[in-house]
Amino acid sequence: MITNTELEYKGNLFPAQIIDHKKEVDKITFYTRNNVALQISFLRDSVLRFRYAVEQDFEPDFSYAISEDATYGYNHLEIKENDDHFAMKTSKLEVKVSKKDLRLAILDLEGNILNEDELGFHWEESYEFGGNIVKMSKFSQESESFYGMGDKPSQLNLRGKRVHNWATDQYAFGKDHNPLYKAVPFYIGMHHSIGYGIFFDNTFKTHFDFCHERRNITSFWADGGEMNYYFIYGPTMPEVVGGYTDLTGKPELPPLWVLGFHQCKWSYYPESKVKEIANKFRDLKIPCDAIYLDIDYMEGFRCFTWNKEYFPDPKRMVSELAEDGFKTVAIIDPGIKIDKNYWVYNEAVENDYFCKRADGPYMKGKVWPGECNFPDFTNPKVREWWAGLYKELIADIGIKGVWNDMNEPAVMEVPGKTFPDDVRHNYDGHHCSHRKAHNVYGMQMARATHEGVKKFTFPKRPFVITRSAYSGTQRFTSSWTGDNVATWEHLWIANVQVQRMCMSGMSFTGTDIGGFAEQPSGELFARWIQLGVFHPFCRVHSSGDHGSQEPWSFDEEVTNITRKFIELRYQLLPYLYTMFYEYTEYGIPMLKSLVYYDQEDTHTHYRNDEFIFGNQILVCPILEPNSKGRRMYLPQGNWYNFWGGEITKGGKECWVEADIDKIPIFIKEGAIIPKYPVQQYVGEKEIDKLTLDIYYKLGKEESQVFEDTGDGFDYKKGRYSLRMFKLTGKEKELIIQQFKEGKYETPYEVFKINLIGLPFKVKSVQVDNVEIPLQDIILNGDTNMTIKKDFTELHIKGL
Ligand code: GLC
Repeated sequence: MITNTELEYKGNLFPAQIIDHKKEVDKITFYTRNNVALQISFLRDSVLRFRYAVEQDFEPDFSYAISEDATYGYNHLEIKENDDHFAMKTSKLEVKVSKKDLRLAILDLEGNILNEDELGFHWEESYEFGGNIVKMSKFSQESESFYGMGDKPSQLNLRGKRVHNWATDQYAFGKDHNPLYKAVPFYIGMHHSIGYGIFFDNTFKTHFDFCHERRNITSFWADGGEMNYYFIYGPTMPEVVGGYTDLTGKPELPPLWVLGFHQCKWSYYPESKVKEIANKFRDLKIPCDAIYLDIDYMEGFRCFTWNKEYFPDPKRMVSELAEDGFKTVAIIDPGIKIDKNYWVYNEAVENDYFCKRADGPYMKGKVWPGECNFPDFTNPKVREWWAGLYKELIADIGIKGVWNDMNEPAVMEVPGKTFPDDVRHNYDGHHCSHRKAHNVYGMQMARATHEGVKKFTFPKRPFVITRSAYSGTQRFTSSWTGDNVATWEHLWIANVQVQRMCMSGMSFTGTDIGGFAEQPSGELFARWIQLGVFHPFCRVHSSGDHGSQEPWSFDEEVTNITRKFIELRYQLLPYLYTMFYEYTEYGIPMLKSLVYYDQEDTHTHYRNDEFIFGNQILVCPILEPNSKGRRMYLPQGNWYNFWGGEITKGGKECWVEADIDKIPIFIKEGAIIPKYPVQQYVGEKEIDKLTLDIYYKLGKEESQVFEDTGDGFDYKKGRYSLRMFKLTGKEKELIIQQFKEGKYETPYEVFKINLIGLPFKVKSVQVDNVEIPLQDIILNGDTNMTIKKDFTELHIKGL
């Protein structure tokens, strides 16, 4: 039997010839004979937006991803009409649009093709749902590489892969598995060492094919909505990622304690267990700032309630933990238990805040508490209500951070593990089905949570962590990579996922250290913590049903290794905080994959394991059992081995020793690495000096240190301290100049200077042109001295 659908199926449809165009200051719109419209907006000289409409009908211009602070408004646009195409020029790019079929090419001003349509825009009518499947295909060049795309657990270079974005609860996912928890439809393409980005801002299920189906073609398409993408020109990867985070936003600074170590488990209860864990950290002198309460703190898994048997007086417990430096973080899920005796449920029903099915009843699904309804976080009123619900937890009880989970949204025991497609959403007044709202549900939940936590934590800074996310979620929250497994393969995945998230605008990410499911061996746990302390977010978490996963759960050697690496993280806090500052200020990824660090060096294009922590520390995890070391690639330049101090010339692969108590760590020559003393938690000690580890270089290098009170918002009013150090090394001389900005006075008065790799013996030291008698400098050995913090020039001369 031939069905109507088959009869009506028209296949791919294409734009016809251009018959008209309209120019505005920073936009041009083309119209075709078959009513397709293409609008090109020139946001900046290097950032363009392409929107296509069939039937000439653009959707209302609304996006959850694009930040209010995004820069736009380019007004030097030049347009030229040629026989067969229109050409538009900015000061960096040229766009050619073919009159015949609307296909386009984007070139740099030297005439190099950066990106060129193959079929270009085309579409297919979706008889199942109405609307169109919107498609785009582009030629890719022979040597082209592809990066980005959020949490995909695949090799960093996605060439040859096909990936999908549909936020999904993927317990115990594996390598190359997708979709996962997050939807970040942004990639970076690079050929001939020229980088560009494409951000397809479409919240429907999206698909990307990077030369998987056809060797020389890249395509992306969505199951609905508009073909609406941004093109971000580099040519450097920092410029591409910077352009993307300019569009989708950057976070504010977190409180400094959040950069400490976090311990979590499903679940620590009752109160005595939480205290026991906290005390053990202090007894064993393993630094820790945060302890987590998973779902068992609640009464029958009802959000915003407490199980009074396990936690009779949460306020007292939280404040006692706080006296010992612990901040308590609590989980909140989206599912609200259907229970007429539960105030949150009743408030939501009274105000009509739950999502509904297409034919009217509330969306009902099973999660931890049993049958639940789910707030529609795409409704601004619901978000406001939800933010207000945090008052008791934060303002009264003193919880310091909130963990949003299951917000893909996850539903148990149903096909697809989420809401059915027909569920309705407000979408900030642009009413739609779940097909469009699914990928932003988690983001809007985290956004509402962030508003609430911020309001009730004020004047301190909020902390939120989410499992699901869409592009732009970094404005509101940190994230973790979901339910991983205690296997060596997952350690590899953890490494690529966090690097990839950093390149995708969401640096503030970590993994469940040690693995969520199953039990790691002591060796695996040690290797994971050695990587985890170099992730922007550093938390041990496990499902708890496979045994314990605290630092002391293995043997003494593992406990000692764990302590040593967590201590290193605490020493590096000023360095880490500076990395965060650069991320908030410029959108710079906190971890830099080697290709991002040096795209000119083609060796980096397929590397996965090595990354740069901040700007000057090269890290490479050990990813295999029984290793005494590994081969790794050192980027161009000279690198000091962190452990031994010896220097190695980069630009090649080499074998690096790393027995169980070490991983390969290298410091870029010329770097000045700031350090604090080890503390058991942030703020335990008054910092009375800042240690500067200075790595000699023959040549120049710059480093900086950002500091402030570590909490509150005064830094926005200029109360911060940004020190820039310029190092110049000569054969028998080392000069360090300091430039300072900001109104914050650090509590310490002096720097402790450690000189590493100095090729000469010190003859004299001058601070701001005044010779310091060598006996006046606190000399420890040959090269260890203390000098006042406000020096402008330190001049060391050699014998
Ligand atoms: C989900 C989360 C996990 C959490 C558990 C119980 O599996 O991903 O982190 O511990 O739910 O709340």
